[in-house]
Amino acid sequence: MTIILGIESTAHTFGIGVVKNGKVLSNVKRSYVTEKGGIIPIEAAEFHQSNKKEIYVEALDKGDIDEKKIDAIAFSQGPGLAPCLLEGIRFAKELSKKLRKPLIPVNHCIAHLEIGRLTNAKDPIMLYASGANTQIIAYEAGKYRVFGETLDIGVGNFIDNFARYAGIGFPGGPVIEKLALEGKNYIELPYKVKGMDVALSGILTNLKQKLESKKYDLNDLAFSMQETVFAMLVETAERALAHTGKNELLLGGGVACNSRLQEMCKIMCKERGAKFFCPEKSLLVDNAAMIAFLGEIMFKSGIKEKNLDKIDIMPRQRTDEVNVIWKKQSL
Ligand code: ATP
Ligand code: FE2
Repeated sequence: MTIILGIESTAHTFGIGVVKNGKVLSNVKRSYVTEKGGIIPIEAAEFHQSNKKEIYVEALDKGDIDEKKIDAIAFSQGPGLAPCLLEGIRFAKELSKKLRKPLIPVNHCIAHLEIGRLTNAKDPIMLYASGANTQIIAYEAGKYRVFGETLDIGVGNFIDNFARYAGIGFPGGPVIEKLALEGKNYIELPYKVKGMDVALSGILTNLKQKLESKKYDLNDLAFSMQETVFAMLVETAERALAHTGKNELLLGGGVACNSRLQEMCKIMCKERGAKFFCPEKSLLVDNAAMIAFLGEIMFKSGIKEKNLDKIDIMPRQRTDEVNVIWKKQSL
């Protein structure tokens, strides 16, 4: 029996999750939101600082967990906003000292990916669509390889930026999804797929110009934005399926909450006889259960660190830098 506590603090969300033998016992989180304007890293870090103790107590309560039974503390090491990551690592080290348990440093993006195991996907192409990241990933020879990605900004940040320009607070994605449902007219937007990569900043500029001109209905713009940008993502994901010969698509990251994106992925998969997987919403946006979940897999493969001085945050860590030794062991 293994009990792993996970801590998530890479950006807007502070969360504590507990996983026991691959089962999520609790997953508590609070997110920093704004009425207007984007995320300010220092403010998000202060938010984490003032909420972490309560979230910890609530997570133990909800899962009915005795903290003495925790075997290790997993935390998001990166990538993310440095001030936010620092709150997470400080709390992880405090707990590690108090409970005398080792730390497990977890890559946030790979946690978004590995939580897909709960859906029973075996060897998928993953479309990872979140705030800061947009990548097409698959496991090959010891690492999660990035087959394609955004050449500029992540799709969630792109949508949030568009929303902010239209006077909508953070996060903008869920509001834009609702507006898009009311959109009736498709407005032509640039379509930017370059091989396996996508480019979003030119489309953002185009959308901002259209908003400024006041000639277009916001609902129509939201609808057209989703149709265009999601089609770009689905096209690259489909190309990755074709190139690799894999026949499973796993959708993950916060933007995966969007029903239209899910629907478009499902249609593509159906057309080419591939299986579609998507974890439940509470495991898509940033959450600590996914950190604990991957932490447990890593712990079982022998990854743990008792020397706290050896561990630091890695704000720019990339998905393909991580040695995925736990996967090699299970193959
Ligand atoms: P990363 O994982 O790349 O570090 P992140 O941690 O900020 O980024 P997540 O929490 O995985 O990202 O996702 C947050 C993003 O998901 C935000 O940009 C938000 O607008 C977007 N999002 C959430 N719900 C929806 C939705 N229904 N439609 C579109 N976007 C959405
Ligand atoms: Fe994330």
